[in-house]
Amino acid sequence: MMNAQELKQAVAKRRTFAIISHPDAGKTTITEQLLLYGGVIREAGTVKAKKSGHFAKSDWMAIEKQRGISVTSSVMQFDYAGKRINILDTPGHEDFSEDTYRTLMAVDAAVMVIDSAKGIEAQTKKLFKVVKQRGIPIFTFMNKLDRDGREPLDLIAELEDLLGIEGYAMNWPIGMGKGLVGLYDRVGQQLELYRENEAGQKHLPLVSGKLAASEPLSHDPQYLAALDDIDLLNDAGNQYNLKKIMAGDQTPVFFGSALTNFGVETFLKHFVDMAPAPGPHQLANRDEELMPTAPEFAGFVFKIQANMNPNHRDRIAFVRIGSGEFDRGMDVTLERTGKTMRLNNSTEFMADSREQVTTAVAGDIVGLYDTGNFQIGDTIYAGKDPVRFEPLPQFTPELFMRVTAKNVMKQKSFHKGMQQLVQEGAVQLYRTYATGDYILGAVGQLQFEVFKFRMQNEYNSEVVMTPIGNRTARWIEPDQLDEKMSSSRNLLVKDVHGDPLFLFENQYAERWFADKYPNVRLTAKL
Ligand code: G4P
Repeated sequence: MMNAQELKQAVAKRRTFAIISHPDAGKTTITEQLLLYGGVIREAGTVKAKKSGHFAKSDWMAIEKQRGISVTSSVMQFDYAGKRINILDTPGHEDFSEDTYRTLMAVDAAVMVIDSAKGIEAQTKKLFKVVKQRGIPIFTFMNKLDRDGREPLDLIAELEDLLGIEGYAMNWPIGMGKGLVGLYDRVGQQLELYRENEAGQKHLPLVSGKLAASEPLSHDPQYLAALDDIDLLNDAGNQYNLKKIMAGDQTPVFFGSALTNFGVETFLKHFVDMAPAPGPHQLANRDEELMPTAPEFAGFVFKIQANMNPNHRDRIAFVRIGSGEFDRGMDVTLERTGKTMRLNNSTEFMADSREQVTTAVAGDIVGLYDTGNFQIGDTIYAGKDPVRFEPLPQFTPELFMRVTAKNVMKQKSFHKGMQQLVQEGAVQLYRTYATGDYILGAVGQLQFEVFKFRMQNEYNSEVVMTPIGNRTARWIEPDQLDEKMSSSRNLLVKDVHGDPLFLFENQYAERWFADKYPNVRLTAKL
């Protein structure tokens, strides 16, 4: 075990973040470049191959392959410049954004990748909102500079106009697309060249913000245009403000091209310097914050992933460590049940291999083999005093399906699969009051398809799903419940916690209900 000083140093080295973006903005490509710098992979194309199914670790990833989307999220760890970096990957497809939202609860910073030809797109906007609520720093990478894109000044303005966050350009493009010359590094006071110049240089120093007059590039119109922009930014742009950056009110903006690996290392260097080490967590069971350097281990489950390895039908609970040090074989208490258990089978997530954890401290993610003990949002802790982290946000599903087992003789595997996939957070489960029918809720249609596919492939249970379409879910206070209030237009169901809610057919049904029962309070989740 580490002593207090060692723990403090180890925690201070951690940088844990997730990348958010609209599909195709370049998240996979930049992740891959970062892993190259971390020495985790040796060849560009590795993560890509994984994405297209080449490295698929389980059968059900076949559905990803079929559709060319990334459903799973994993954790990658590497060391860079004396820091230990944890990248939490998130699914790209919006139908799985619930999973992404939960993952964002487990990071200390976010990187937003934007396609500079497209600007801010729908999914980025959605994910940005979730990150913003957390008040964590957000770094921006304007990607695909090797293609003709939008005016850099417009891209910066759009951050403020569409997302309401100030942008501070850390560097500035000189030309773009075929005419890309390089980046003006405002912080490092140098030019970073896209291609080496004749003298074999990649970097040119700036003196008082300018190239030496003897430098041939100093007459280049692209360079001169960039200088004009920089003047404008200096005079009228946002002032660099670290406090605002830390609070997520200002975003440092880096330009570059992930594909040609231009500007990525500069981004990484600044990122590890500026991004915060793990901070305290507000506790739900005590009016205090838990410090990451508190000696006793505590963490929360933000994701459960079943059957990652087709050879071992295992489930893995991803735990974000909130405080202390994790040790293999340690005894922990599961806060929800008060049950004590010994953790002796853990895995640490690297890009391509799962290696046994040696040391992991606050900020790190550990994967625990799970035989069905854990649920999303669970806290585990090692000390005597109970710890409970704040609950993960629950999202209100919009799509609903009635589900039954096709073969009534196979109820057992149906129930098992259902229970496990619901615990995993793959879909949300409701039961009707009147008949106890199973209703599944999801944010996106693909969640149902993955559910069906996995029930068949992993639990050998063929399911029949009958759509009941879009519904508005509203919870009510249990003491206001009257089963007579239920009808086909406002179906009364209970969630996995046993809390009652109505699934309204549409807004009219909800309004009609509100008029009829004015004293019943209806509430939505996020
Ligand atoms: P995602 O994970 O955010 O969905 O995006 P991904 O990295 O898969 O990138 C989407 C596409 O954009 C890929 O092309 C990728 O090569 C390309 N791309 C990423 N970064 C850059 C960049 O800096 N410049 C340019 N020009 N392209 C970039 P694709 O054709 O869909 O895939 P591939 O078959 O070429 O790999």
